[in-house]
Amino acid sequence: TRTQVCIVGGGPSGLLLSQILHRAGIDTIVLERRSRDYVLGRIRAGVLEGGTMQMLREAGVGARMDTEGFLHSGTYIAARNRSFRVDFEALTGKQVIVYGQTEVTKDLYDARDTMGGVVVHEAANVAIHDAGGTPYVTYHRDGTEHRIDCDWIAGCDGFHGVSRKTIPQDVLRTTERTYPFGWLGILSHTKPADHELIYANHDRGFALASMRNANLSRYYIQAPADDPLEKWTDDAFWDELRRRLPSDVAEAIETGPSIEKSIAPLRSFVAEPMRWNRLFIVGDAAHIVPPTGAKGLNLAISDVHYLSDGLIRHYAGDDEGLDRYSEHALARVWKATRFSWWFTTLMHRFPEDGHFGQRMKLAEIDYLEGSRAAQTVMAENYVGLPY
Ligand code: FAD
Ligand code: DHB
Repeated sequence: TRTQVCIVGGGPSGLLLSQILHRAGIDTIVLERRSRDYVLGRIRAGVLEGGTMQMLREAGVGARMDTEGFLHSGTYIAARNRSFRVDFEALTGKQVIVYGQTEVTKDLYDARDTMGGVVVHEAANVAIHDAGGTPYVTYHRDGTEHRIDCDWIAGCDGFHGVSRKTIPQDVLRTTERTYPFGWLGILSHTKPADHELIYANHDRGFALASMRNANLSRYYIQAPADDPLEKWTDDAFWDELRRRLPSDVAEAIETGPSIEKSIAPLRSFVAEPMRWNRLFIVGDAAHIVPPTGAKGLNLAISDVHYLSDGLIRHYAGDDEGLDRYSEHALARVWKATRFSWWFTTLMHRFPEDGHFGQRMKLAEIDYLEGSRAAQTVMAENYVGLPY
């Protein structure tokens, strides 16, 4: 088989890239290791930037987001048993939307089906060959080896994928920081704590009250990344969450059985450059941010913006976009890496903080409350930096 762009990974970045290129008349095949149900069962990101909304609309997959998503024009920051609001709309003129990654992915699969896009599921042992010459990709399915010849390969296969690992070690520079804790998250059919998100700094650790819709809440608390999940019964989770939120919020919170519960480690990771000959790496395959501030999915989508633009221009005879893909994408990645690191550091308790460290964080939160300049810096980054 032959295609113009072989896309490894059928998560949000691979599917959106395929959708945009198909609409521009460029042929793609998506190879996904898992089943569609498995991909759709993963609970991940929940907040989309304006640029992400625009990308989804332009790709023809924004309709359900626009009717079912919830626009948020601000967020609450809590500490010392009280909270204040940062008004994104007043400070930047922009909003974000609460619309889960699961829904984005479902809309993308539906759109790929409607257009007759090719997504191969349960593609095992995907391998990338000759990215420096005449590229092709091989994989196994139903006990047979298949081969796809292509012009370009887009590695959209997440942090644990094969694409980044295909790039020789002396070409790729990686930088990484792991954080000494994880996020324990639950999903429950309960009314969200507030109509907007609450990010809480507390002596016992960070907590976040988020949501997916009017009867579906998503909560996270900072917890040791290696804590066994059995330790966190639903009651233990709700008790700990309530201790960390302002008491008026905690008293009013609706609790109920969890329908999903998991612990994720936190890390910052960047691999550069994001191109090696005819292979591009996109989204989590190239970079990871800690979740505080909800940048991971949004960064994957901005990478797709730069790469789809570069590929469309390439087939129209202009290589500049592709030649500058890595540079353009990384400039935005580094800024989001800084913001996610800053917001994570400000809101979490680190073992080395001590009394002084925690006082510095509380002083910074007080400053944020009182300074329009500081709030503007936060809001500008939260709603998403321009492409
Ligand atoms: P992915 O969504 O990881 O998609 C990659 C796809 O490639 C997957 O479907 C995978 O099955 C497939 N694949 C992997 N290896 C291969 C292979 N060898 N061959 C073929 N296919 C392969 N972000 C937020 O903003 N907020 C959050 O709350 C949040 N929570 C998260 C929780 C977890 C547990 C994780 C892992 C991430 C979370 N993120 C969150 C980050 C966000 O979900 C990611 O940034 C986003 O999914 C990136 O999209 P992607 O398409 O680049 O990668
Ligand atoms: C969610 C995750 C985040 O990392 C964040 O900053 C806000 C919301 C969420 O999953 O709802």
